[in-house]
Amino acid sequence: MYRSFLRPLLFSLPAEKAHHLAVNALKMSMKTPLLGAIMTCDPKRGKSVELMGLKFPNRLGLAAGFDKDGKSFKYLGRLGFGFLELGTVTPLPQEGNPKPRLFRLPADKAIINRMGFNNEGVQKLRSRLEKGRTSGIVIGGNIGKNKDTPNEEAVNDYLKCMKILHPIVDYFTVNMSSPNTPNLRELQDKEPLRKILSSLMQFNLSQTTPRPVLLKIAPDLSTHQLDDIVEIVLQEKLAGVVATNTTISRSGLKTATRKIESIGAGGLSGAPLAAQSLHVVEYLRKKMGSELVIIGVGGIMSLEDAEKMRSAGADLVQLYTGFVYEGPGLVRELVRGME
Ligand SMILES: Cc1cc2nc3c(=O)[nH]c(=O)nc-3n(C[C@H](O)[C@H](O)[C@H](O)COP(=O)(O)O)c2cc1C
Repeated sequence: MYRSFLRPLLFSLPAEKAHHLAVNALKMSMKTPLLGAIMTCDPKRGKSVELMGLKFPNRLGLAAGFDKDGKSFKYLGRLGFGFLELGTVTPLPQEGNPKPRLFRLPADKAIINRMGFNNEGVQKLRSRLEKGRTSGIVIGGNIGKNKDTPNEEAVNDYLKCMKILHPIVDYFTVNMSSPNTPNLRELQDKEPLRKILSSLMQFNLSQTTPRPVLLKIAPDLSTHQLDDIVEIVLQEKLAGVVATNTTISRSGLKTATRKIESIGAGGLSGAPLAAQSLHVVEYLRKKMGSELVIIGVGGIMSLEDAEKMRSAGADLVQLYTGFVYEGPGLVRELVRGME
């Protein structure tokens, strides 16, 4: 139903409007007994796995950015995902970049976005989780910094977010890899990275129940940068890495160059990202050994893509763009088909 009816309708609208409409349609359908029953897929239909001290009902997750403010996690959870990564949230609410800032490239099964961490602030996410969290699904909190916070003070933003969400999420993803917040990716350099992760881990380990902390990385890093990251992730005893965020590359696209140029800056996701993300996951798995967890994300558009990501070394996989193009059917297919 999604591919033949809903997707053409949604794709006829501007991308950001379509996103809100799709989420509202999901909520309404889930509240309608018959439709809700048809659309619901029990996450336990997949094979459960225990990782980082958490029990995942299956290995498929929703990637960060889709439900930044936790407005629809209750409904998304009923589609079958074994875990949802909410955020990126920042300490203060912020508007994000001017619209339009979200673009589809149907010829490439891809998206370009420069949302810029539009979110209602970390406190709102916490309140929504406090009201609506149920057990059975793993919830990750993806944390970032406000645009106006200089990089030298970024550590305070990450700490604030972690402190507020600590009692209510199961794991954290530290996001320093979005291309849409000016200079954010510089925080992935050795010294700032070490400083921020070490402060976060110090706070985390002082809590009664420390949470697994993962670092989300860009796909555009050099081998040298990846080596530095692995060194710090191991030293600071993080639980693992989320690989990868969107790319700033535009190579190999079928969409006309003129259209790509007219869209301008932003991160590219979807099918054209798959090879790059797979490569990063493969490299990290070789370097990090088998202990650390890798969440593989980038260009998973089919069961075959998810299986490739698993073979490259990912313990868990996440979707964003694949969900936009293929809808809830893909979630169902992956939940049942993986393993
Ligand atoms: C519109 C949009 C918004 C996103 N927002 C975030 C975000 O806030 N935080 C984050 O860590 N990743 C964000 N991402 C990146 C995704 O979580 C994911 O890493 C990336 O899109 C690659 O996966 P995909 O090819 O399945 O989309 C966003 C992606 C898209 C398309």
